Amino acid sequence: MDGALRIAGQAMAHDSALKHCTGEARFLDDTAEPPGTLHAAFVLSGVAHGRLLAIESGPALALAGVVAILTAADIPGRNDIAPTGRDEALLATDLVEHAGQPVALVVADTREAALAGAAAVMLRIDALPPVLSIEAALAAEQLLIPPMLLAEGDAPAALAAAPHRVSGEFRCGGQEHFYLEGQVALAIPGEDRDIVLHSSTQHPTEVQHIAARVLGCDFNRVTVQVRRVGGGFGGKESNASAVAAAAAFAAVVTGRPVKLRLSRKADIASTGKRHPFLFRWEVGFDVAGRVLALDATLAADGGHTPDLSGGVMMRALTHALNACHVADVRLRGLVCKTNTVSNTAFRGFGGPQGVLLMEDVVHRVARVLGRTPEAVRAHNFAGAPNPATTPYGATLEGDLIRRVWAEARDGAEWDRRRAEIDAFNAAHPFLRRGLGSVVLAFGISFGLPHLNQAGALVHVYTDGSVRLNHGGTEMGQGLFIKVAQVVAEVFGVDLERIAITATSTGEVPNTSPTAASTGSDLNGWAAHAAASTIRERMAAVAAARWGVEPGDVQFEDNRATAGNHTLSFGELAQACYLARVSLSATGYYKTPDLDWDGATMRGRPFFYYSYGAAVAEVAVDTLTGENRVLRADLVQDCGRSLNPAVDRGQIEGAFVQGLGWLTCEELWSDPAGRLRTLGPSTYKIPGSRDVPPVFNVRMLEGPPARVPTIFRSKAVGEPPLMLATAVWNALKDAVGTDRLDLPATPERVLAAVSSLRV
Ligand code: MTE
Ligand code: HPA
Ligand code: MOS
Repeated sequence: MDGALRIAGQAMAHDSALKHCTGEARFLDDTAEPPGTLHAAFVLSGVAHGRLLAIESGPALALAGVVAILTAADIPGRNDIAPTGRDEALLATDLVEHAGQPVALVVADTREAALAGAAAVMLRIDALPPVLSIEAALAAEQLLIPPMLLAEGDAPAALAAAPHRVSGEFRCGGQEHFYLEGQVALAIPGEDRDIVLHSSTQHPTEVQHIAARVLGCDFNRVTVQVRRVGGGFGGKESNASAVAAAAAFAAVVTGRPVKLRLSRKADIASTGKRHPFLFRWEVGFDVAGRVLALDATLAADGGHTPDLSGGVMMRALTHALNACHVADVRLRGLVCKTNTVSNTAFRGFGGPQGVLLMEDVVHRVARVLGRTPEAVRAHNFAGAPNPATTPYGATLEGDLIRRVWAEARDGAEWDRRRAEIDAFNAAHPFLRRGLGSVVLAFGISFGLPHLNQAGALVHVYTDGSVRLNHGGTEMGQGLFIKVAQVVAEVFGVDLERIAITATSTGEVPNTSPTAASTGSDLNGWAAHAAASTIRERMAAVAAARWGVEPGDVQFEDNRATAGNHTLSFGELAQACYLARVSLSATGYYKTPDLDWDGATMRGRPFFYYSYGAAVAEVAVDTLTGENRVLRADLVQDCGRSLNPAVDRGQIEGAFVQGLGWLTCEELWSDPAGRLRTLGPSTYKIPGSRDVPPVFNVRMLEGPPARVPTIFRSKAVGEPPLMLATAVWNALKDAVGTDRLDLPATPERVLAAVSSLRV
């Protein structure tokens, strides 16, 4: 396991990289529709909160091509798409709870006719006052789930005894996933009410379960298939099921295949986003900058239903101290109910929001003491001389925290550039530069212990070619090639011998979502197990033929060998078949050593931590608030990377996505609660010119994971998003402000500059 590797660990292009560029990669909407396919479109509420009095479908039904207008009353099973199994309507019944909520489904011969039909359906809604902000929900005591508490020691007493105390408040915004491929599903009805459901989802099993619930059938009637997802970023973890269940139900009602592909506007209006948070904190510290006590409230806008908000808040709370140790801590998590779209998973899953808290605290403590945030943060790092424990009872690796920070700082030439930037600022009255940093410890594993499992199915054919299937979904992150590399490694064959196949609930059942950055950890091990089972059987056949021990049979260079004996992998596969030995196996993996009590918020929820550090330099025009990142230096611990080329892409992409969240992506709703940033003209995602012109990305050299992950690699999908926090710190440094709410758009930066002038 820890020895030399030939194929795993190689920097290899994503299996679909060329196909993505040429357009040959088939996304769901590129595959041929079966004859007779109908198209569907949602009718969305234009009102944030109100009683649904009537759905007037007459004029829409009269339009050419419109086949049916379906409402909740037409649903054969339960009108419930909640991922946790309780009461989230697929189509609104008496109450609408956010603008953009699906109320009816128009089915037509063409997509254009369906969209025209949806526009012609009139909804009569008696408006009620909406609750549209975290503050309003807190004032009305509207919570989606009971308050959560993560506490250690006695924070109030330690605060009272601390030599210094300050308090603060800040907020961060939500974020639209803006996957390039929007939500889409194609449902194909078969015999006996069987359904094949093609879905762009990170969670085929949940789509299967929810479609079955909506149809009122057993799970075994629904087969969900996913070849690739055109970006998910968490937005297709729970949010794909509404679209898939709607297509499935329309297919069952009409008896014809139905495709539902949301327009970009409908997608942004009706699907969940990253949770906005409001933070209020009080910190006690000493003159050396040691944080002694932290008492904070993290309030999230959960939207109108719980969805995954409990898990998101769990991760926010467990990441609020990030790489630091504080002895006395009290962190309250409040998930507010508002009349907005139900917020959901987004890369980092509450971790990015949580990480902001300690950074804000460190920044303020530094300013009070006249020290640098870097010095204060380092003084509070978990690990010797400080304790290495988290407030929930797990342990961080202090040496890795210090190592990523030292490498980032040195790689960024911190001291030289700090002096340069100070000199620049002294010489320029209106342009200012800033330098900021962050150090990250991100927990790897699903916060819900039972999700940390995976399965795989591997077949070897008698020509020695291999078919690989597992429960993970490919959404651009390179999971499929990484798992294929693992299988090629086990069999000692070239990667080209491994066929990558679509994820299917019919091949590997009862899967977890591809999320929490665990895809390659979980599915890599499951595929390793399946391939190893087959390899052992093959070794036994070869050993019997050659009169050697099975352990003496080596698999490499597309051959099995023992001493002078040799067979090609295909010849041995054929020999196994003739000897009546199975060449097919399932594999299963569950993450060991997890222990988490969600009620007391105690235990070891994460198998290990992924560490990273970043330094960012920004320029700010203090007359306009415009700002850009001039340079970023990132160091990310990937353990012994399964594929450094793919991991580098993940690090770069995650950082830029984080940069977007923190600086330019702003969700804006009108006073009636209607989101108005429904497309790229009003919602600004980062473009190629926002990528830092100097962008140095490094993987921490050498250290294999210290726990038995697959080939000692470490997860990489989400953590580097949080490295963009360095940009927030750099902006605060440039402006010289205590408070900078997020996203730090030019308007907010300008407001911060102006507030310092008066
Ligand atoms: N990378 C691409 N290209 N597209 C995506 O949708 N999703 C991210 C990350 N990287 C995503 C991505 C998120 S939110 C997660 S949890 C991980 O990939 C999931 O994949 P993994 O567990 O295989 O890393
Ligand atoms: N991360 C992402 N998705 C999840 C998690 C998590 O920790 N738990 C449940 N779904
Ligand atoms: Mo990622 S937010 O866990 O899908």
